[in-house]
Order: sequence, then structure tokens, then C-alpha cells
Amino acid sequence: MEKKVLYSAVQPSGNLTIGNYTGAIRNWVALQDEYECFYAIANMHAITVRQEPAELRRRTVELLALYIACGVDPARCTLYVQSQVPQHAELAWVLNTITYVGEMERMTQFKDKSARHAENINMGLMDYPVLMAADILLYQTDVVPVGIDQRQHLEIARDIAARFNNRYGETFRMPEGYILKAGAKIASLQDPAKKMSKSDENPNASVFLSDDRDTVIRKFKRAVTDSGSEIVASEEKPGVSNLLNIYAAFAGCTVEEAERAFAGKGYGEFKLAVGETVADVLAPIQAEQKRLLSDKAYLNAVLKEGAERAFKAARRTLSKVYRKIGFYQGD
Ligand code: TRP
Repeated sequence: MEKKVLYSAVQPSGNLTIGNYTGAIRNWVALQDEYECFYAIANMHAITVRQEPAELRRRTVELLALYIACGVDPARCTLYVQSQVPQHAELAWVLNTITYVGEMERMTQFKDKSARHAENINMGLMDYPVLMAADILLYQTDVVPVGIDQRQHLEIARDIAARFNNRYGETFRMPEGYILKAGAKIASLQDPAKKMSKSDENPNASVFLSDDRDTVIRKFKRAVTDSGSEIVASEEKPGVSNLLNIYAAFAGCTVEEAERAFAGKGYGEFKLAVGETVADVLAPIQAEQKRLLSDKAYLNAVLKEGAERAFKAARRTLSKVYRKIGFYQGD
């Protein structure tokens, strides 16, 4: 039986946190055999907010190396950079003509980002969901693993697909959301009510995948805990629960097993153990990423091959679209 197509992308902006690792990267690795996976580095989405060109270029390669270091295997999936496959922009243009300004203005993320970047509310920012719909629809995607913040974008991609199919005849496969397994949510170490974020202004709130061992351990030592001294997961103990969650995710055990492992221990010892466990997982990834970054020829070859594979799949869909809408293509 043919494998279902899975599509995911990540923007090369900001430093990735351990939350991105458990919530996204690890899933890319886990899903790559079960599905035919297309994984993109969404640099065209990234420029909807201001980027420093040299920085954007550097982050793109770093991200590529990181994903490979984490186990994403370019031989088993199509790993590529969005801007290297021109059909994304081309399909987005077509989809723009069946998308309404009003529905884009109502998108939650557009409203949030417009408030945060009031000096730069550019057309691309508003058009972001249409480009994302193009990403997904180009590959006749069956499933898109999405976190809560991207759900609305997937919904609009489905609306756009349905509208196109309705107007021009069956063209796009209807993508479904892939709900990620629980346990992936990691909160800020300083305020467990908030999600751990790559852009938190408190440097101790987030653990980055690029943090060295001492930094990781120091951040966990400073993590907020709760009153009392018991190490159990509960609603009254959001700080401890978050640390137990992180420990379980990085030690490869359940939260209950983690609770048992730390029963009777103090917060200090517990936090140190969580920090060490996370650092132990990050160390070999960082070493492999560094090794890969010193082998640009290999990384460039990966990107070339990924772009070629993506191009072939994307061309098929775009050509179908052009035919349906009446764009003359010779014969
Ligand atoms: N917007 C997504 C994010 O910021 C990245 C993305 C771009 C994406 N295109 C996509 C995710 C297509 C899933 C499918 O996280």
C-alpha cells in the first residue's frame, strides 16, 4: 500500500528550545518511516518578519544540520529549503485569488504579529497562511502534524482546498491535522503557566538546544518549583509537574516512573538530575551538528537532492492547477 503523505515545516528564525525538540523535531524522526514525509525549512515564511540576511542564511544551514543530527534521515524523507522550490510562490499566487482579505485579517496569528510588529505589517505577513496552504497542498498531503498555534492555519488551508476543488474540480487532497501525542508540552522554567518560548526575554526561562552542559544545568537549578517538598505531578504543582514532564521526555520514561524515581528526594537533587538528563541527550546531538556543519559539501548535496525531489512532486500538482484554471501550457 502507498504511504500517506505527511508535510511539516519549520522556520529558520530564533534559537530552538527543548520544547521544539520534544514537540516537533522528535516527531519528524518518529514519523519518517510510517509516512512519505516532506520536511521543509520555511525561509519564505521567515521573511514575513524582518530578518538579518547573513543570520537567516546561517540559521538555515544550522537548522538543516540540527535536524539531521537529531535523526531526520535525508535518504528516507524529502528534506529541503522552501525557497529552492519555486512552486511554493507560484501556487500561493493562484490561491491568493480565491482567498478573501477579510478571512486573512481575522487570523489570530496575523493579529498578534501585527500588534507586535506594528511598524512592519507587510503583505507577506497577511498572506502567510496562503503560502502555508500552498506548502501543504502542493504535495497532496494527507496529514500535517500541528501544534495548537498552527491549527487555524491548517483549517484555512482546508477551506482553500475545498474552495478550489469546488470551483475547478477535484485537484487537491484534503489534509488532516495529526494530533501529536501528549507529553510534548514544555512550559517556561520561570513561569510554568507559559509555554517555553524561543523569544522569552528572561534568559533562564528557556533551555536552548545549543546550550552547553553548564548552562543547561544552571537553568534547571534556577527553575521555579512550588511550595511543599513532594515531587509529584499535580495541578497545584505546575513547576514540579513541568520538570517531571521534561525529565520523562528526555529519560524516555513515563511521568509516573519519574515520580517514583524521585520519591523522597529533595528539589535540589531533582532539578540537578533533570538538568543532567537533558544535557546528556543534547551533547551527542550538538557534536553531530558541529561535525555536519564542517561538511558543507554534504549539506549542500542533501539540499540539492531534496529540492529536486520536492520540485518533481510540486511540479505535478502545479501543472494540474494551471490546467484547471486555464493557464496555457502548450501541450
Ligand atoms: N507556520 C509554521 C510554523 O511557524 C511553519 C510552516 C510553514 C508549516 N509551512 C508549513 C507547518 C506547512 C506545517 C505545514 O510553525
